[in-house]
This record gives sequence, C-alpha cells and structure tokens, in this order.
Amino acid sequence: MKKSKRTKKSNSWKIKQHRDPFFKKSKILGYRSRASFKLIELNKKFKFLKSNTKLLDLGSYPGSWSQVASKTITNGKILSIDIKNISPIKNVNFYKGDIFKKTTKNKIKDFFDGKLEVIISDMAANTTGNKSLDSIRTNQLCLEILNLSSKILIPDGVFVSKVFMGEDFDEIKNLAEILFKEIKFFKPLSSRNESKETYIHCRILKTL
Ligand SMILES: C[S@@+](CC[C@H](N)C(=O)[O-])C[C@H]1O[C@@H](n2cnc3c(N)ncnc32)[C@H](O)[C@@H]1O
Repeated sequence: MKKSKRTKKSNSWKIKQHRDPFFKKSKILGYRSRASFKLIELNKKFKFLKSNTKLLDLGSYPGSWSQVASKTITNGKILSIDIKNISPIKNVNFYKGDIFKKTTKNKIKDFFDGKLEVIISDMAANTTGNKSLDSIRTNQLCLEILNLSSKILIPDGVFVSKVFMGEDFDEIKNLAEILFKEIKFFKPLSSRNESKETYIHCRILKTL
C-alpha cells in the first residue's frame, strides 16, 4: 500500500476510534482497551466471574480482560497468558508464552495445582491482510484451547472464547458439542458490527 493511502487509512481509523463510545468509556474507567467491554458484557449475560474463581485468561495483552476479571476475583486465582508482555495488574499473575507450547501448558497445570473453573480467551492470530486466512488461524487457537479445556476444567467449568464466523466455524461448534453440555454464541454490542468475531460460551463437561 502507498504511504499516503496507509496514512489516510490510519487517520480514519483514529477518528473512528475516538468517536467510539466503548473506547471513550474504557479510557474513563482506566481500562487498557475497549475490549474490556466485551468481557463485561459476556459476564453480564453468563455470570461466570465470582470472587473466588480460578481463572485462566488467554491472549491477555494489553490486559483489559485481566483488569476486568481482577475487579471481581478478589479471593481466587488469575493466570494471564500472552506471547507479548503486559504491565503488571494487581492480583493477576502473568506468564509470557505461546499456548501451542508444552512449557505454557505445564505452567498452567503447575499454577492451578489441580483443575480450574473458568477459561476466557480473546486470542487472535496476527493479521495478514487475508481475512479468510486470519479467521482460520484465530479459529485454530480456539480449537487448541477447546481441546485443552476438557483436561484442565472442573466438571462444571466454563469456557469462553473468541470465534470467527468463517468456513471452519462448524468445526468449533461440533467439537464444543462433543465436549460440553451447554453451548451458546453471543456477540457483545462492543464487538464491531463489521467484524466476523463472536464469542462461544460453553459449560458443563460431558464427562459428568
Ligand atoms: C485481541 S488481543 C487480546 C486483547 C485482550 N483480551 C485485552 O482485553 O486486552 C489478542 C491477543 O492474542 C495473543 N495471541 C495470539 N496468538 C497467541 C498464542 N499462540 N498464545 C498466546 N497468545 C496469543 C496476541 O498476542 C494478542 O495480544
């Protein structure tokens, strides 16, 4: 893309961002990004954050979901993971790692020393400019942790993850239906209309 075109695009993105009510509210409330409102809305609908919840936050950079979770989870445990570093958040333990790596999975098992109650994931693959490829790569992240969730969640645990409405959407839905008793999809108002992003909420493992 030519420089002037790129500058125009980034300027119009900045204007859009500053007019965005969720961006404004997140700044006022001290959240690191407007994504905070996606978790606030998801929790308002499904009510999975409790004061003593043991929670894993995946793809946590810059940290707004962890900030939201730490406001409610005052007596539980929070492990927040991303391949990028985040600055510290009170009551949140951060680990820099890739969810596909064994060392990261071992860290999760060691940290919780047993099973946990809630996994939230807002992981998204780096964008390539090819929307279809980006959607497939982000959905691969969701599939990876869906598989992991059945090994590390308590029987009535909760799994919440970003999903793209792409060609492999059904693969995620089918796997979720194999693993969990209750599956719901919810697109928060703070998730932009033009984005194919939605969220899957699953609870109660079928092994019960
Ligand atoms: C949309 S951002 C998350 C925003 C975050 N929920 C918040 O509220 O601040 C998606 C994140 O997923 C992370 N990510 C992508 N692939 C990952 C992987 N394989 N393991 C861990 N994190 C990953 C990216 O580094 C990125 O920071």
